[in-house]
Amino acid sequence: MQKIPTNSPAPRKAELSLDLTGPHVTPRASAPHRLYQALCHAIVSGIVKPGEPLPPSRTLASQTGFPRNAVTTAYERLIADGFAVAMVGSGTFVAARIPAQASGAGKTRVVVDAPPQGTLSLGCTHIDARALQRFRAFVGRRMRAFGTDHLHYGDPRGSRELRTAIADHLLSARGLRCDPDQIMLASGTQHALRIVLSAILKPDDRVWCEDPGYPAARRAIEHCGYRPVAVPVDASGMIVAKGRALAPTARAAYVTPSHQFPLGVQMSMNRRLELLDWARDADAFVLEDDYDSEFRYDGAPLLSLAGIDHLQRVIYVGTFSKTLFPGLRIGYCAMPEKLIGPVTMARAALDRFPGTLLEGAVADMLNSGAFAANLRRVRGLYREARDVLAATLSTASEGRLSVPVPSQGLHLVARFDPSVDAQVAAQAKAAAGVEGWLLAETYARARPLPGFVLGFAGHPIPLLKASAEKLAKASLAALRPSHKQDTHGTGTGKARKPASARSRSAG
Ligand SMILES: Cc1ncc(COP(=O)(O)O)c(C=O)c1O
Repeated sequence: MQKIPTNSPAPRKAELSLDLTGPHVTPRASAPHRLYQALCHAIVSGIVKPGEPLPPSRTLASQTGFPRNAVTTAYERLIADGFAVAMVGSGTFVAARIPAQASGAGKTRVVVDAPPQGTLSLGCTHIDARALQRFRAFVGRRMRAFGTDHLHYGDPRGSRELRTAIADHLLSARGLRCDPDQIMLASGTQHALRIVLSAILKPDDRVWCEDPGYPAARRAIEHCGYRPVAVPVDASGMIVAKGRALAPTARAAYVTPSHQFPLGVQMSMNRRLELLDWARDADAFVLEDDYDSEFRYDGAPLLSLAGIDHLQRVIYVGTFSKTLFPGLRIGYCAMPEKLIGPVTMARAALDRFPGTLLEGAVADMLNSGAFAANLRRVRGLYREARDVLAATLSTASEGRLSVPVPSQGLHLVARFDPSVDAQVAAQAKAAAGVEGWLLAETYARARPLPGFVLGFAGHPIPLLKASAEKLAKASLAALRPSHKQDTHGTGTGKARKPASARSRSAG
């Protein structure tokens, strides 16, 4: 344990105790990361309290022997994760309200607000401090230049400037060539699906959906009065032959071919071609939800389905919810030319056009390179978070959870042996008090596999690790025969859907 002097003008402790070797520190991690973990630990365990100053980077560097830029990077990450704030001219301080408490180990009571989303929840992202700063600056500049552009009704597809920036991004990131006229902005994926489907379908039309799949898409499809058809998924993605057998005359298919949600498989080229053949035969459209392709950790992604099809029958749907943050509520679709008229009319009928105030700042992010730089930085963080979560779950569950490490995306799937009762996962999750989903919640008709769908992005590593340990231990407890006997006493070993899952994934 090293004692680090602090020197801010605010009332302060003479020294900061920093434990750089405890179990909260990953031994072989980078220097900034180990410092970050030690500082996080000092904050969440109350050694340094909300509002207190952290030592100047130079002091901390000389005390710990870490390079000064390692300290600066660790501080930047603390700030980005909400553990600290920077005050110009005064230094770095522990945030008045810190995001969450990793354990109850601290002697001092720490003021902790419930995090907006619990640990392991899906839908969290991390935006790098530098990218956030650029975004704020772009928003500020755009607001100062606020003028007549924003005072009128606009194009139902959204600003041409942002649509052009998205078309450039799609070409460079996904090899998808399209004209800005083919792009429409929407307030997220479900909104884009609703608008497009309302332009191409009639009430009661059937839509193939992956089973297991993304419940929010299935709900949006149902809510609009269309009929989702649950088509099973295997290691090559949606089983097109089953779709043909179940509903050959469906009018559309919703798929996540690059990284199937939730299982993470990549749709094989054969299946992609089969799907496109079916769409041609049935005069149907394919909605490709490419929600997390920007986060590829190993190897190059397959070409998008829309790229293979040259935007003839495929509507490509993307979102800034993962690449920037969900609160933006900006997603988009790239559509076949022949759909521009009907989709634009559907949009105008639904909600006229998207809000204009943030479009310019998002275009600035894309055009300035700040978007790409943010992706590069957070990709590294997410890869590390993925590895920590997978390794902790696997080790702490003594191998009872199998955790394939995904090569893409912001979530992973942790599965029990298929013979385990699905209730075991529900009990473990409830006992551990973590967020994330039960794998069963993503199934519509197929027999659910027992396990969890867990988010690793946007959660500070120490909290991720602590939550993974809790969940793994609760899983071991739920697997014990006496526990099973006490709670439902059947021991049949058959996977059943928990009641909560049945209601959430109905349809
Ligand atoms: C499969 C899938 N598609 C899309 C999204 C993004 O949705 P939205 O753009 O509505 O925020 C998510 C978010 O978790 C998702 O899991």
